[in-house]
Amino acid sequence: MSAGIKKIAVAVVLALAAWFGSGALGFPHVFQAMFVAYVALGLAVFLLLDAPPMRRLSGWTAVAALVGFYLVLSAMYIGGASSWPQYDPEVEKGKIEKILKRKRAMALAEQRQVDTWLEQVRVLQDDSQTVMARLGRFAPATAVPEAPPKQGALTVVERGAEVYDLYECYNCHKIGGKGSVKKRGPILDNIGSFLTVNDIKRKIFDPTYLYAEGFEKEHKKGRMPDKYKDLMTDEEVQALATYLSTLKDPTAKTPKPVFVKSNVEHGFTVFGYVRDASGRALPGTEVRAMPQVKGGHGASGKTDEAGYYEIFLHMHNENAGATVEVSAQGAKKTFVADYDPNDTITRRQQSLDLTVAAPEG
Ligand code: HEC
Repeated sequence: MSAGIKKIAVAVVLALAAWFGSGALGFPHVFQAMFVAYVALGLAVFLLLDAPPMRRLSGWTAVAALVGFYLVLSAMYIGGASSWPQYDPEVEKGKIEKILKRKRAMALAEQRQVDTWLEQVRVLQDDSQTVMARLGRFAPATAVPEAPPKQGALTVVERGAEVYDLYECYNCHKIGGKGSVKKRGPILDNIGSFLTVNDIKRKIFDPTYLYAEGFEKEHKKGRMPDKYKDLMTDEEVQALATYLSTLKDPTAKTPKPVFVKSNVEHGFTVFGYVRDASGRALPGTEVRAMPQVKGGHGASGKTDEAGYYEIFLHMHNENAGATVEVSAQGAKKTFVADYDPNDTITRRQQSLDLTVAAPEG
């Protein structure tokens, strides 16, 4: 028996070494657990060696015992294997395919462009021959370069949701209750109320730009990957940030962002979306913001293709607490620019969406 205890002691030491050693080498937890499992398996084998010999079996009992042993072993093997995290190769292949599809479409568009140019050159050559032949008459080339293929029928916001999926932000973040089981990063359902599209873009490309309140430790440890600026195209990050900026669920527990790298400006930013009654975003819509104070300076902006606008107002410390009116196409809303003049950390900004009755002619 004491031999058994010695073996268990050795196994415990080995298991600890396997766990911490592989951890120090940077193996993910799944692998660490697997190494420990191997040690446990070895221990089981060595303990079996100590077991008293079995009664000798013969005839059909021996066959039945052998088959039974095989079945138990298979069940353990299959059960064990399927309890590890599973990756569906089809899902992964689908993701790669989506990324490649865009790159291919772009390459194809370039190829088409080159073909068009070659065609133009040919036409020009023909023309110059015509000119040579019939001096005095000149026929300019009129070929119009082909536009690159459209990005399917996705809206910018839909495309952004797709980018969020492709780059697996859900591994650490939750949206609509889906994603990161272990609360690695903040819930993003209300991020649009806090951050402008531009700030979201900057956070994605440079995670040190700001941090979510309550996640100081994770921020210091650099938990959010610093790789997206090398991986994402401008189109991808723009769509992703646009998508996230539409998430404005005030009941969600999205933590407030704290800016690390920027000073508070002596101004106030209003940002948000203009939509019609059916919820459709309205691009190219004029939006005006006007502080309701004596001598206040109004400012205006236009919504982009996703229906998003951003207006920078010149407001000074003494304007704190002023009411600001925001309007577009007859729709009006007000808010109180309620900032603390002594607070030099919190951004002076307000998210505000407008719904207009009917789009202009
Ligand atoms: C490995 C985990 C991880 C991944 C993957 C990740 N993030 Fe983060 N993210 C974090 C953590 C942790 C924080 C909080 C600490 C901080 O702000 O640095 C955070 C913070 C944020 C914030 C600020 C939230 C707030 O309330 O202020 C945004 C926005 C964000 N992430 C967007 C993204 C997007 C978009 C992606 C995918 C392209 C992504 N993250 C991928 C871990 C991750």
